[in-house]
Amino acid sequence: MPEYRPEPQAFSSPVTRSAIFIVATLANGDGHADIVRAWCADVAPVVRAVGHRVPSGKLSCVCGFGSSAWDRLFGGPRPAALHPFREYGSGERVAVATPGDLLLHIRADSMDLCFELATQLLGKLGDAIRVVDEVHGFQNFDMRAMIGFVDGTENPTGREAVDFTAIGDEDAEFAGSSYVIVQKYLHDMAGWNALPVEKQELIIGRKKLSDIELDADVKPSSSHSSLTTLDENGQEVKILRDNMPFGRPGAGEFGTYFIGYARSPAPIEQMLENMFVGRPPGNYDRLLDFSRAVTGSLFFVPSADLLEALADRSAPAAVVRQHE
Ligand code: HEM
Repeated sequence: MPEYRPEPQAFSSPVTRSAIFIVATLANGDGHADIVRAWCADVAPVVRAVGHRVPSGKLSCVCGFGSSAWDRLFGGPRPAALHPFREYGSGERVAVATPGDLLLHIRADSMDLCFELATQLLGKLGDAIRVVDEVHGFQNFDMRAMIGFVDGTENPTGREAVDFTAIGDEDAEFAGSSYVIVQKYLHDMAGWNALPVEKQELIIGRKKLSDIELDADVKPSSSHSSLTTLDENGQEVKILRDNMPFGRPGAGEFGTYFIGYARSPAPIEQMLENMFVGRPPGNYDRLLDFSRAVTGSLFFVPSADLLEALADRSAPAAVVRQHE
């Protein structure tokens, strides 16, 4: 008999040209939790129905649940490392925590597919949730972030991507599941563009045009690349990112939607601490002099099998008691 391994949700699917990120909170009131639980079994068939209309469109959707939402919807057992998003930094430079019970990360090569799937999935949820943030992201020229540098180069791929993102024996009951952190950043593009390219390259740690990493003897320890490179017992610990630029030029809004998946929140949190507080403290990421985090949430991403099975969970005892 082959070993049964739960299938992760589609977070390591290929990069796409478009994405919609939706963060929602659960509405209070009778019956709403039942609607969200039942919806968990609808996600895969709805993705199939919409995606099948354009087979080459690479449509996918990943769903995640925040810490308190998990307790309210599903109760125990709970994922070992699930907790609310922790803030990092102080003063001008803070990785803020903002409300988030449910995340939808919808991707496709064209926005019409993303739009249709978002409409169908939100339609089924109805009043059971309240959307608190919705961002429509686009792929920018040759994979460039809003700040003009190529983004995603050091992402793990293939087997490595699964190893760094899917929970294994450390929390066997949730094998194949994952964690994701999202943050919405707004950039001061006038300030950033006023910097000479050589200064921008020292801040990122790579060449802007060619995307080649700066040599170790010129790359500052405060560069974005240095501060987000983690070493554990001589082994690099990676995360899987699928950031997207977004914005409204007419409103002067230029942003990056950061999204990072990992098998534990710890490496992403360590990167945030390095960026916002500094490694060592004070040696922070100068990208943050031109970028402000305006949202921040942490979600648990059940495996595809678990997501479907969650529909059959009954209301947690504490919640049932509240309504008696
Ligand atoms: C303002 C938002 C951000 C922008 C515009 C941005 C942009 C970039 C760019 C251009 C690179 C270099 C190419 C590559 O992807 O390997 C990079 C690398 C990276 N970023 Fe970010 N990033 C942002 C926020 C974050 C955050 C919040 C984290 C983690 C908490 C993060 C983690 C990483 C990691 C792990 C790498 C690869 C480092 C390496 O191995 O060299 N980034 N980012």
